[in-house]
Amino acid sequence: MNDGDWLERRNKAMKHPAQQAIEGLPHLGGGHWVYDLYPVRGDIARIVEPCSVFEFGAMLGWALVAFALGPEKPPTRIGWVDDESHTADSNRCVRENLRSIPALSHTRLSPYLNTFDALAFRQADLVAVDSDHSLDGTMRDLLVAYRLKPRVIVIDDMDAIREVREASLNFARWLKLPLWHVGTHNGLGYLDLSGTEEIADGLERMGYHRPDSLPLTP
Ligand SMILES: C[S@@+](CC[C@H](N)C(=O)[O-])C[C@H]1O[C@@H](n2cnc3c(N)ncnc32)[C@H](O)[C@@H]1O
Repeated sequence: MNDGDWLERRNKAMKHPAQQAIEGLPHLGGGHWVYDLYPVRGDIARIVEPCSVFEFGAMLGWALVAFALGPEKPPTRIGWVDDESHTADSNRCVRENLRSIPALSHTRLSPYLNTFDALAFRQADLVAVDSDHSLDGTMRDLLVAYRLKPRVIVIDDMDAIREVREASLNFARWLKLPLWHVGTHNGLGYLDLSGTEEIADGLERMGYHRPDSLPLTP
């Protein structure tokens, strides 16, 4: 990609409502500026229209904001797990970030410190995994994510972290479902548990390159 393309894509992303909402949050830090991480999350949520959203590894809640503001109707419940190993007191910051958005003022917020405590959330339509990026840690998050009976599981760092990709492929093989891949700068994966191509179709209609489904043969 040349500099002109990059700038054009970045300027387009900056105009995306999810990115604009993130830029206006009270708790910002390095990372939110990575231009192609959050718009696509908002757009996946626009297709899925989740009533409930859950994330493993929320940090300051930027991805949660994107998932929550993508659909026309914001979710009624948002939950997340973060052990605060990256940022002390980050769960308070997530709460304050989400509460700073008027559209989310009635959304129920449920934070947890430990992965398995997520089961108390019971069910989430859209679940994101971006927490412990080891092989075992990713697999554990995916298994608990699956127990929340989601419609879609979104996985960050599919290209950037080999262990995340390997765990995600193993999990997809176990489910016998395609693992879809969107070419963001660090690679976004997702499992569409409805077994349809609705998200891939929807993203393509919105102007994205159609996601590829990764070969599941080892
Ligand atoms: C890459 S950051 C998440 C960024 C966030 N998803 C976003 O884009 O807005 C990873 C987060 O996972 C948390 N984390 C790492 N290992 C964890 C574990 N074993 N259990 C719970 N949280 C963990 C860290 O504290 C950190 O906040």
